[in-house]
Amino acid sequence: MPQQKLILDVDTGIDDAMALLYALASPDAELLLATCAPGNVNLEAVVRNTRGVLDVAGASHIDVIAGARTPLVKALVTTPETHGPTGLGYAVLPEPSRALSTPSADGTNAAAARIVAEVRRHPGAVTIIGCAPATNIAAAFRLDAELPTLLHDVVLMTGAVATPGNTGARSEWNAWCDPEALDEVIRACAAAGRPALILPLDATESALIRPPHWAALVAAAGRAGAQRGDATLNPVLRLIDEALRFYDEFHLQYDKIEGSHIHDAFTVAVALDAALATIVSAPSAVETREGVTQGDLLVDVRGRTNTPANSRVAIAGDGEAFLQRFAERVGRFSAR
Ligand code: BDR
Ligand code: CA
Repeated sequence: MPQQKLILDVDTGIDDAMALLYALASPDAELLLATCAPGNVNLEAVVRNTRGVLDVAGASHIDVIAGARTPLVKALVTTPETHGPTGLGYAVLPEPSRALSTPSADGTNAAAARIVAEVRRHPGAVTIIGCAPATNIAAAFRLDAELPTLLHDVVLMTGAVATPGNTGARSEWNAWCDPEALDEVIRACAAAGRPALILPLDATESALIRPPHWAALVAAAGRAGAQRGDATLNPVLRLIDEALRFYDEFHLQYDKIEGSHIHDAFTVAVALDAALATIVSAPSAVETREGVTQGDLLVDVRGRTNTPANSRVAIAGDGEAFLQRFAERVGRFSAR
């Protein structure tokens, strides 16, 4: 099976962890690198969590690089109520297998520099998937203006089109955290004639992981019938169980739903297989000005503004097909 070379830019985060596991479990993906941006938790916690997830998954050889400490303009805000104080819910990670990457003392963005180096090493072949505020991707584009033309694709979990926001009335978390970075990335990709693929909540909320998917996951791992909380589960399944237990509680309390939206994992799945989403070309704009609409992503789906399309936007997703695939792939991977 041909493999897509991926860089995941993450703010790990429960659904970022699911995204990393899905990428590692996918035969059509080769994870080159994970870069870290602050968002769900601060940069140090993102690096620790990302290293921990890769270690639990037996992928200690993959580099985890710290990026920016803060968004481009706004002050950093984190979200412990969504992902828990450490960022991974109730999961407890092993001690890191390698020294953790730290932000450069001179204030340069090491993640951005490494993204540039990886893309230049494999011109035309790398897809960067933004599972976090777009800070590091914008920084990479600032470092190397040619980068958007050298990437295979840029795929961003961000924004909300017709679905209500999960942060403000219309704003989604990643977009709200660093709207200036998102604006820069969308513009740079469009200027290069390579519009970014945007996965807003309209598509990612279709990926609601619930008890039947848990049953499929443990069955694929050879543990059919194993319950949540079973201490004899393999380490990857225990990580998923303990992280999702917190995320489930969050979704029940804040959204009154059973299950958890694993936005970032769905985004990786669509980057690998666009057939999982309904994708339209449309003009998008980001509200960067301070105020109640800051971070809103405005997508002119009906083409009323007579503006040229500058993005590809997933306006719906096939979450069920994805979740079956997630269960099969990650279940089997966890038991290897
Ligand atoms: C996005 O925000 C974060 O909390 C999640 O990790 C995901 O990337 C969903 O709005
Ligand atoms: Ca994320």
